[in-house]
Amino acid sequence: MKQGEQFRDKVVWITGASSGIGAALAVAFSRLGAKVILSGRRVEGLEKTRALCERNQREQQRGDIQMLAFDASDYGKAEEVVEKAYSFFARVDVFVGNAGVSQRSLFTETKAEVIHTIVNTNFLGNVFLVKAILPRMQERREGTVALVSSIVGKFGSPLRAVYSASKHALHGFCDSLAAEVRKDNITVTLVVAGFVKTDISLHALLGDGTRYEHMDENQQGGVSADECAESIIRGLARGKREIMVGITNRARLILFLHRFFPWLFRYIVQRSKVT
Ligand SMILES: NC(=O)c1ccc[n+]([C@@H]2O[C@H](COP(=O)([O-])OP(=O)(O)OC[C@H]3O[C@@H](n4cnc5c(N)ncnc54)[C@H](OP(=O)(O)O)[C@@H]3O)[C@@H](O)[C@H]2O)c1
Repeated sequence: MKQGEQFRDKVVWITGASSGIGAALAVAFSRLGAKVILSGRRVEGLEKTRALCERNQREQQRGDIQMLAFDASDYGKAEEVVEKAYSFFARVDVFVGNAGVSQRSLFTETKAEVIHTIVNTNFLGNVFLVKAILPRMQERREGTVALVSSIVGKFGSPLRAVYSASKHALHGFCDSLAAEVRKDNITVTLVVAGFVKTDISLHALLGDGTRYEHMDENQQGGVSADECAESIIRGLARGKREIMVGITNRARLILFLHRFFPWLFRYIVQRSKVT
Protein backbone atom coordinates (compact mmCIF):
# COMPACT_ATOMS: atom_id res chain seq x y z
CA MET A 1 0.00 0.00 0.00
CA LYS A 2 1.31 3.46 -0.92
CA GLN A 3 2.13 5.80 1.99
CA GLY A 4 -1.11 7.27 3.36
CA GLU A 5 -3.36 5.30 1.00
CA GLN A 6 -5.36 4.03 3.98
CA PHE A 7 -6.79 7.56 4.37
CA ARG A 8 -8.70 7.42 1.06
CA ASP A 9 -12.42 8.01 1.84
CA LYS A 10 -11.66 8.37 5.56
CA VAL A 11 -13.24 11.30 7.37
CA VAL A 12 -10.57 13.55 8.87
CA TRP A 13 -11.57 16.45 11.12
CA ILE A 14 -8.85 19.06 11.63
CA THR A 15 -9.12 21.96 14.05
CA GLY A 16 -6.91 24.98 13.41
CA ALA A 17 -7.27 24.40 9.66
CA SER A 18 -7.51 28.08 8.71
CA SER A 19 -3.71 28.46 8.56
CA GLY A 20 -0.32 26.86 9.17
CA ILE A 21 0.04 23.19 10.06
CA GLY A 22 -3.71 22.51 10.06
CA ALA A 23 -4.19 23.99 6.58
CA ALA A 24 -1.22 22.00 5.22
CA LEU A 25 -2.59 18.83 6.82
CA ALA A 26 -5.99 19.42 5.23
CA VAL A 27 -4.44 19.82 1.78
CA ALA A 28 -2.28 16.71 2.24
CA PHE A 29 -5.19 14.58 3.48
CA SER A 30 -7.44 15.74 0.64
CA ARG A 31 -4.69 14.86 -1.84
CA LEU A 32 -4.88 11.32 -0.43
CA GLY A 33 -8.63 11.24 -1.14
CA ALA A 34 -9.85 11.81 2.41
CA LYS A 35 -13.05 13.66 3.25
CA VAL A 36 -12.00 16.62 5.38
CA ILE A 37 -13.81 18.78 7.93
CA LEU A 38 -12.04 22.11 8.42
CA SER A 39 -12.38 24.01 11.69
CA GLY A 40 -11.13 27.31 13.02
CA ARG A 41 -12.67 30.69 13.81
CA ARG A 42 -11.67 32.62 10.65
CA VAL A 43 -14.14 31.65 7.93
CA GLU A 44 -12.05 33.35 5.21
CA GLY A 45 -9.06 31.25 6.29
CA LEU A 46 -11.13 28.07 6.14
CA GLU A 47 -12.43 29.04 2.69
CA LYS A 48 -8.87 29.52 1.48
CA THR A 49 -7.91 26.10 2.78
CA ARG A 50 -11.01 24.55 1.20
CA ALA A 51 -10.12 26.08 -2.18
CA LEU A 52 -6.60 24.61 -1.92
CA CYS A 53 -8.02 21.20 -0.99
CA GLU A 54 -10.52 21.25 -3.85
CA ARG A 55 -7.74 21.84 -6.35
CA ASN A 56 -6.60 18.29 -5.57
CA GLN A 57 -9.99 16.76 -6.09
CA ARG A 58 -11.91 15.36 -8.97
CA GLU A 59 -15.39 16.70 -9.85
CA GLN A 60 -17.19 13.71 -8.25
CA GLN A 61 -15.51 14.45 -4.92
CA ARG A 62 -17.11 17.89 -4.59
CA GLY A 63 -18.67 18.20 -1.14
CA ASP A 64 -15.92 16.14 0.45
CA ILE A 65 -14.46 19.25 2.09
CA GLN A 66 -16.71 20.75 4.75
CA MET A 67 -16.22 23.79 6.98
CA LEU A 68 -17.24 23.99 10.62
CA ALA A 69 -16.27 27.32 12.17
CA PHE A 70 -16.25 27.56 15.95
CA ASP A 71 -14.21 28.92 18.84
CA ALA A 72 -12.31 26.00 20.37
CA SER A 73 -11.88 27.87 23.66
CA ASP A 74 -15.66 27.76 24.12
CA TYR A 75 -15.49 24.15 25.31
CA GLY A 76 -18.99 24.19 26.81
CA LYS A 77 -20.30 23.88 23.24
CA ALA A 78 -18.18 20.82 22.40
CA GLU A 79 -21.03 18.28 22.27
CA GLU A 80 -23.05 20.55 19.96
CA VAL A 81 -20.01 21.11 17.71
CA VAL A 82 -19.26 17.38 17.53
CA GLU A 83 -22.86 16.67 16.55
CA LYS A 84 -22.52 19.17 13.70
CA ALA A 85 -19.25 17.56 12.59
CA TYR A 86 -20.90 14.13 12.53
CA SER A 87 -23.83 15.54 10.51
CA PHE A 88 -21.54 15.91 7.45
CA PHE A 89 -20.43 12.30 6.90
CA ALA A 90 -21.98 10.45 9.88
CA ARG A 91 -18.54 9.55 11.22
CA VAL A 92 -15.07 10.86 12.04
CA ASP A 93 -12.20 8.43 11.48
CA VAL A 94 -9.35 10.75 12.37
CA PHE A 95 -9.63 13.73 14.70
CA VAL A 96 -6.67 16.12 14.66
CA GLY A 97 -6.86 18.60 17.55
CA ASN A 98 -4.41 21.13 16.19
CA ALA A 99 -5.98 24.49 17.14
CA GLY A 100 -3.63 26.36 19.39
CA VAL A 101 -2.47 29.78 20.51
CA SER A 102 0.96 30.64 21.83
CA GLN A 103 2.15 33.18 24.40
CA ARG A 104 4.80 35.89 24.50
CA SER A 105 4.61 37.29 28.03
CA LEU A 106 6.04 37.00 31.51
CA PHE A 107 3.64 35.10 33.73
CA THR A 108 3.32 37.98 36.20
CA GLU A 109 2.34 40.29 33.34
CA THR A 110 -0.25 37.92 31.87
CA LYS A 111 -3.88 38.86 32.44
CA ALA A 112 -6.27 36.22 33.79
CA GLU A 113 -8.34 36.28 30.60
CA VAL A 114 -5.24 35.48 28.53
CA ILE A 115 -4.47 32.52 30.81
CA HIS A 116 -8.03 31.26 30.31
CA THR A 117 -7.87 31.70 26.53
CA ILE A 118 -4.62 29.74 26.20
CA VAL A 119 -5.63 26.89 28.53
CA ASN A 120 -9.16 26.67 27.13
CA THR A 121 -8.00 26.62 23.51
CA ASN A 122 -4.95 24.38 23.79
CA PHE A 123 -6.06 21.98 26.49
CA LEU A 124 -9.72 22.05 27.55
CA GLY A 125 -10.95 22.68 24.01
CA ASN A 126 -9.32 19.40 22.97
CA VAL A 127 -10.40 17.54 26.11
CA PHE A 128 -14.09 18.28 25.64
CA LEU A 129 -14.13 17.64 21.88
CA VAL A 130 -12.40 14.30 22.50
CA LYS A 131 -14.87 13.52 25.30
CA ALA A 132 -17.75 13.91 22.86
CA ILE A 133 -16.00 12.07 19.98
CA LEU A 134 -14.68 9.02 21.86
CA PRO A 135 -17.98 7.27 22.66
CA ARG A 136 -18.85 7.50 18.95
CA MET A 137 -15.48 6.01 17.98
CA GLN A 138 -15.83 3.34 20.68
CA GLU A 139 -19.19 2.32 19.26
CA ARG A 140 -17.59 1.76 15.84
CA ARG A 141 -14.51 0.22 17.46
CA GLU A 142 -12.13 2.32 15.40
CA GLY A 143 -10.63 5.76 15.21
CA THR A 144 -7.58 7.92 15.64
CA VAL A 145 -7.24 10.93 17.90
CA ALA A 146 -4.14 13.07 17.31
CA LEU A 147 -3.41 16.12 19.42
CA VAL A 148 -0.79 18.67 18.44
CA SER A 149 1.61 19.64 21.19
CA SER A 150 4.99 21.30 21.21
CA ILE A 151 8.52 20.70 22.44
CA VAL A 152 7.59 23.14 25.22
CA GLY A 153 5.17 20.38 26.26
CA LYS A 154 8.37 18.56 27.26
CA PHE A 155 10.15 21.42 29.04
CA GLY A 156 9.41 24.96 30.17
CA SER A 157 10.65 28.19 28.67
CA PRO A 158 10.49 31.85 29.73
CA LEU A 159 7.57 33.85 28.29
CA ARG A 160 5.64 30.59 27.70
CA ALA A 161 4.56 29.54 31.24
CA VAL A 162 0.88 29.13 30.39
CA TYR A 163 1.41 27.88 26.83
CA SER A 164 3.96 25.34 28.05
CA ALA A 165 1.63 24.20 30.86
CA SER A 166 -1.28 23.79 28.43
CA LYS A 167 0.89 21.60 26.18
CA HIS A 168 2.36 19.60 29.11
CA ALA A 169 -1.24 18.84 30.10
CA LEU A 170 -1.87 17.33 26.66
CA HIS A 171 1.01 14.88 27.20
CA GLY A 172 -0.48 13.43 30.40
CA PHE A 173 -3.93 13.43 28.85
CA CYS A 174 -2.80 11.54 25.75
CA ASP A 175 -0.78 8.98 27.70
CA SER A 176 -3.68 8.17 30.02
CA LEU A 177 -6.25 8.15 27.24
CA ALA A 178 -4.13 5.93 24.99
CA ALA A 179 -3.99 3.31 27.74
CA GLU A 180 -7.75 3.48 28.31
CA VAL A 181 -8.95 3.16 24.72
CA ARG A 182 -6.42 0.73 23.28
CA LYS A 183 -8.92 -2.10 23.89
CA ASP A 184 -11.43 -0.25 21.68
CA ASN A 185 -9.04 -0.21 18.72
CA ILE A 186 -8.57 3.54 19.03
CA THR A 187 -5.14 5.09 18.58
CA VAL A 188 -4.21 8.22 20.51
CA THR A 189 -1.25 10.08 19.07
CA LEU A 190 0.65 13.03 20.40
CA VAL A 191 2.30 15.27 17.80
CA VAL A 192 5.27 17.11 19.27
CA ALA A 193 6.20 20.05 17.07
CA GLY A 194 9.56 21.75 17.25
CA PHE A 195 9.88 24.69 14.89
CA VAL A 196 7.55 24.97 11.92
CA LYS A 197 7.43 27.98 9.63
CA THR A 198 3.90 29.26 10.31
CA ASP A 199 2.33 32.43 11.68
CA ILE A 200 2.10 30.97 15.22
CA SER A 201 4.31 33.72 16.68
CA LEU A 202 2.38 36.47 14.86
CA HIS A 203 -0.83 35.07 16.38
CA ALA A 204 0.72 34.58 19.86
CA LEU A 205 -0.79 36.56 22.73
CA LEU A 206 0.97 39.19 24.80
CA GLY A 207 0.06 39.57 28.49
CA ASP A 208 -2.68 42.09 27.74
CA GLY A 209 -4.33 39.87 25.13
CA THR A 210 -3.07 41.72 22.04
CA ARG A 211 -1.13 39.82 19.41
CA TYR A 212 2.65 39.65 19.26
CA GLU A 213 2.63 40.15 15.45
CA HIS A 214 6.31 39.25 14.89
CA MET A 215 7.83 36.31 13.08
CA ASP A 216 10.18 34.56 15.52
CA GLU A 217 13.59 33.45 14.38
CA ASN A 218 12.84 29.84 15.40
CA GLN A 219 9.73 29.68 13.21
CA GLN A 220 11.48 31.52 10.38
CA GLY A 221 14.16 28.82 10.41
CA GLY A 222 11.68 25.99 10.93
CA VAL A 223 10.55 23.27 8.55
CA SER A 224 7.73 24.12 6.15
CA ALA A 225 4.14 23.40 7.14
CA ASP A 226 3.87 21.05 4.13
CA GLU A 227 6.88 19.06 5.28
CA CYS A 228 5.43 18.95 8.78
CA ALA A 229 2.06 17.72 7.47
CA GLU A 230 3.76 14.95 5.47
CA SER A 231 5.61 13.77 8.59
CA ILE A 232 2.40 13.78 10.65
CA ILE A 233 0.55 11.75 8.02
CA ARG A 234 3.45 9.30 7.74
CA GLY A 235 3.39 8.83 11.53
CA LEU A 236 -0.39 8.43 11.67
CA ALA A 237 -0.28 5.89 8.83
CA ARG A 238 2.16 3.85 10.92
CA GLY A 239 -0.02 4.16 14.03
CA LYS A 240 2.72 5.95 15.95
CA ARG A 241 1.93 7.04 19.50
CA GLU A 242 4.24 10.05 19.35
CA ILE A 243 5.25 11.94 16.25
CA MET A 244 8.10 14.43 16.42
CA VAL A 245 8.03 17.09 13.69
CA GLY A 246 10.00 20.24 12.97
CA ILE A 247 12.96 19.02 14.98
CA THR A 248 15.54 21.40 13.57
CA ASN A 249 19.15 21.20 14.80
CA ARG A 250 18.36 23.87 17.35
CA ALA A 251 15.30 21.99 18.65
CA ARG A 252 17.32 18.75 18.73
CA LEU A 253 20.06 20.40 20.81
CA ILE A 254 17.54 21.81 23.32
CA LEU A 255 15.84 18.40 23.68
CA PHE A 256 19.21 16.69 24.10
CA LEU A 257 20.38 19.11 26.79
CA HIS A 258 17.07 18.93 28.63
CA ARG A 259 17.16 15.12 28.68
CA PHE A 260 20.79 14.41 29.40
CA PHE A 261 22.14 17.61 31.00
CA PRO A 262 19.13 19.16 32.81
CA TRP A 263 21.38 21.37 34.98
CA LEU A 264 23.06 22.81 31.87
CA PHE A 265 19.67 23.22 30.20
CA ARG A 266 18.41 25.24 33.22
CA TYR A 267 21.60 27.31 33.26
CA ILE A 268 21.24 28.24 29.58
CA VAL A 269 17.48 28.85 29.70
CA GLN A 270 17.79 31.22 32.67
CA ARG A 271 20.34 33.26 30.78
CA SER A 272 19.02 33.04 27.23
CA LYS A 273 17.16 35.86 25.59
CA VAL A 274 13.93 34.14 24.59
CA THR A 275 11.52 36.07 22.36
N1 LIG B 1 4.64 26.50 14.32
C1 LIG B 1 5.38 25.98 15.29
O1 LIG B 1 6.62 26.14 15.31
C2 LIG B 1 4.73 25.16 16.37
C3 LIG B 1 5.56 24.61 17.35
C4 LIG B 1 4.98 23.85 18.34
C5 LIG B 1 3.62 23.62 18.36
N2 LIG B 1 2.82 24.17 17.40
C6 LIG B 1 1.38 23.91 17.49
O2 LIG B 1 0.86 23.64 16.20
C7 LIG B 1 -0.53 23.98 16.18
C8 LIG B 1 -0.83 24.75 14.91
O3 LIG B 1 -0.17 26.01 14.95
P1 LIG B 1 0.48 26.69 13.66
O4 LIG B 1 1.93 26.68 13.85
O5 LIG B 1 -0.09 26.13 12.43
O6 LIG B 1 0.03 28.23 13.87
P2 LIG B 1 -1.19 29.09 13.29
O7 LIG B 1 -1.02 29.32 11.86
O8 LIG B 1 -1.30 30.26 14.20
O9 LIG B 1 -2.44 28.12 13.47
C9 LIG B 1 -3.18 28.05 14.64
C10 LIG B 1 -4.57 27.54 14.27
O10 LIG B 1 -5.33 27.40 15.47
C11 LIG B 1 -6.57 28.03 15.30
N3 LIG B 1 -7.07 28.57 16.55
C12 LIG B 1 -6.42 29.37 17.43
N4 LIG B 1 -7.25 29.73 18.42
C13 LIG B 1 -8.45 29.14 18.14
C14 LIG B 1 -9.70 29.13 18.78
N5 LIG B 1 -9.94 29.80 19.93
N6 LIG B 1 -10.71 28.44 18.21
C15 LIG B 1 -10.52 27.76 17.07
N7 LIG B 1 -9.36 27.72 16.42
C16 LIG B 1 -8.33 28.40 16.95
C17 LIG B 1 -6.32 29.14 14.30
O11 LIG B 1 -7.53 29.42 13.61
P3 LIG B 1 -8.42 30.76 13.78
O12 LIG B 1 -7.48 31.90 14.04
O13 LIG B 1 -9.16 30.81 12.48
O14 LIG B 1 -9.33 30.47 14.92
C18 LIG B 1 -5.31 28.51 13.37
O15 LIG B 1 -5.96 27.80 12.33
C19 LIG B 1 -0.80 24.75 17.47
O16 LIG B 1 -1.43 23.89 18.41
C20 LIG B 1 0.58 25.12 17.98
O17 LIG B 1 0.63 25.25 19.37
C21 LIG B 1 3.35 24.95 16.41
